[in-house]
Amino acid sequence: MSNYHIKHLEEYYQVYRKSVRNPELFWEEVAEEHFLWHKKWDNVLSWDFKKPEVKWFEGAKLNITENCIDRHLHTRGNRTAILFEPNNPEEPAQHISYSQLHARVNQMANVLKSKGIKKGDRVCIYLPMIPELAVAVLACARIGAIHSVVFAGFSSTALSTRINDCGAKMVITSDGSYRGDKTIDLKGIVDKALDDCPGVNCVLVVNRINGEINMKSGRDYWIQPLLDKSSSDFPAEIMDAEDPLFILYTSGSTGKPKGMLHTTAGYMVYTAYTFKNVFQYKQDDVYWCTADIGWITGHSYIIYGPLLNGATSVMFEGVPHYPDFGRFWEIVEKHKVNQFYTAPTAIRALAKQHLDFVEKRDLSSLKVLGTVGEPINEEAWHWYNDNVGKKKCPIVDTWWQTETGGIMITPIPFATPTKPTYATLPFIGIQPVLMDENGAEIHGNQVDGRLCIKFPWPSIARSIWGDHQRFKDTYFSAFENMYFTGDGALRDEVGYYRITGRVDDVIIVSGHNLGTAPIEDAINEHPAVAESAVVGFPHDVKGNALYGFVILKETGEGRVQDNVRKEINQIITEHIGPIAKLDKIQFTSGLPKTRSGKIMRRILRKIAARDAENLGDISTLLNPEVVDEIKGSAM
Ligand code: WTA
Repeated sequence: MSNYHIKHLEEYYQVYRKSVRNPELFWEEVAEEHFLWHKKWDNVLSWDFKKPEVKWFEGAKLNITENCIDRHLHTRGNRTAILFEPNNPEEPAQHISYSQLHARVNQMANVLKSKGIKKGDRVCIYLPMIPELAVAVLACARIGAIHSVVFAGFSSTALSTRINDCGAKMVITSDGSYRGDKTIDLKGIVDKALDDCPGVNCVLVVNRINGEINMKSGRDYWIQPLLDKSSSDFPAEIMDAEDPLFILYTSGSTGKPKGMLHTTAGYMVYTAYTFKNVFQYKQDDVYWCTADIGWITGHSYIIYGPLLNGATSVMFEGVPHYPDFGRFWEIVEKHKVNQFYTAPTAIRALAKQHLDFVEKRDLSSLKVLGTVGEPINEEAWHWYNDNVGKKKCPIVDTWWQTETGGIMITPIPFATPTKPTYATLPFIGIQPVLMDENGAEIHGNQVDGRLCIKFPWPSIARSIWGDHQRFKDTYFSAFENMYFTGDGALRDEVGYYRITGRVDDVIIVSGHNLGTAPIEDAINEHPAVAESAVVGFPHDVKGNALYGFVILKETGEGRVQDNVRKEINQIITEHIGPIAKLDKIQFTSGLPKTRSGKIMRRILRKIAARDAENLGDISTLLNPEVVDEIKGSAM
């Protein structure tokens, strides 16, 4: 297909114009080629952002795993699909070919079936970055079960909330995980979570660390013996285009996490098409995305997008600093990685280390570098460009979201001239707009506003599991007939977009989205705490760190306060996970509030950022006097 692989800027504009002039025709053409359909669609697109309802390729029948795996067996069966690099560099890497992946996914699907899982059931996957994670995801898709992967850094409370919200019947986990020089007792966390999850009747356990664990009889099973006796054939369940593929939780500014629901055909077409173009993947390239499959980046660009293209996708179990800060570059050299996709927070952490870690490695295989998850600052961009890409590899700063399923704003390598800190131009088919606070579209260039998308694309989330009203309220109510992203952005003189950050109460810490409300709820569980407010403040590695303002029921001595600080972070770790711990905790006698009782986070954010000189008019506050107190003892 001529428009499948964009090679220069003019071609981008040409294809882009075509894609927005007649989106149905455009996406139909993409879908016609390169995919295996049991039946083609009756209708390409129907949509109504007011309901909201979006349907792509309605009437089509397919199974996404046949497109990820079976379709490549004749041509590329012996090529590596998943290249697994273990946490410990001494442990050999595993090259799992497309044929082997086919057999393993089918065996796993047979195991799931033997344990009663069928089309439409939800399966929670709580695994480290080991091949079984990808195999489990694909096995669910093969059988038509809806996978809900939970990042294995989340606590037992966070896990049980997600299991119960989606009504999962089964959990797939491991005895434990390796993380640098530590091991983590994953099964222990699952056991604790399941005390609150009466709906789970089966737990499949991968042996990763030979850990001493409890196996509850009649519920828990080691997975390997079951796989060993399973057939490596499994006829894929034929799914409708709009059948659910997965649920993935993301933090909201209020309340419990949102289970974003993605469906089958549109997600497939869009992740395949973006992967090919954004990374300019060529046959036999080795592609590495360092994300965890617990996040959307891992779903779309470690598993689905790459496999749909018959690519070799590296899956790394470890962390960037183990055994030392050179690990990423060692892996790039070892596996001759061609496309490398990571997060600004990792780049900033690595840029702080001795350059020798980078310079002693041969990185000449690299062709394209990517970044995702949060705004990349100029310094990190240049460090990445100069030292990793040696100024020869275009950096694709890809903006997108769990909700969007795939990359939305990005340069196309070798076509779009890059500009540090700019995600640049909308991807093919994507129609971004900037809106002002009164709901009017801001036209022209050199403007900033709230980033919305005005036309559906194939991989847009279809709902929030079990709460369509919340889906509507969160994304389709702020602006009429628009999908609202929650981000602010500016558009420069040539139409390039720069994402300026969240405009709601979601804070991105080391690339992880965290809602303030659940963290405040956790803090308020501490018996000594009366009220709290959490804001983000700039941090040179994590992007943002968390600052908590806490009112105690009784002010204690310094030592008592220190203990409370520790205990608050313990509670947060138990409720959410260590990623949500506060860097700073300031005790105060009050929080600045509006007359209607709403906490003025804007003021707290400025104080936390040490930018409290100009707080604007605070005289309308209910309690302006607390502002001086808070400023006076800011940390
Ligand atoms: C932020 C990750 C600036 C943004 C794929 C978005 C970015 C949120 C970028 C979604 C980028 C993601 N530049 N900000 N290139 N990419 N973001 O759901 O605030 O984990 O709304 O999806 O990350 O995070 P999520």
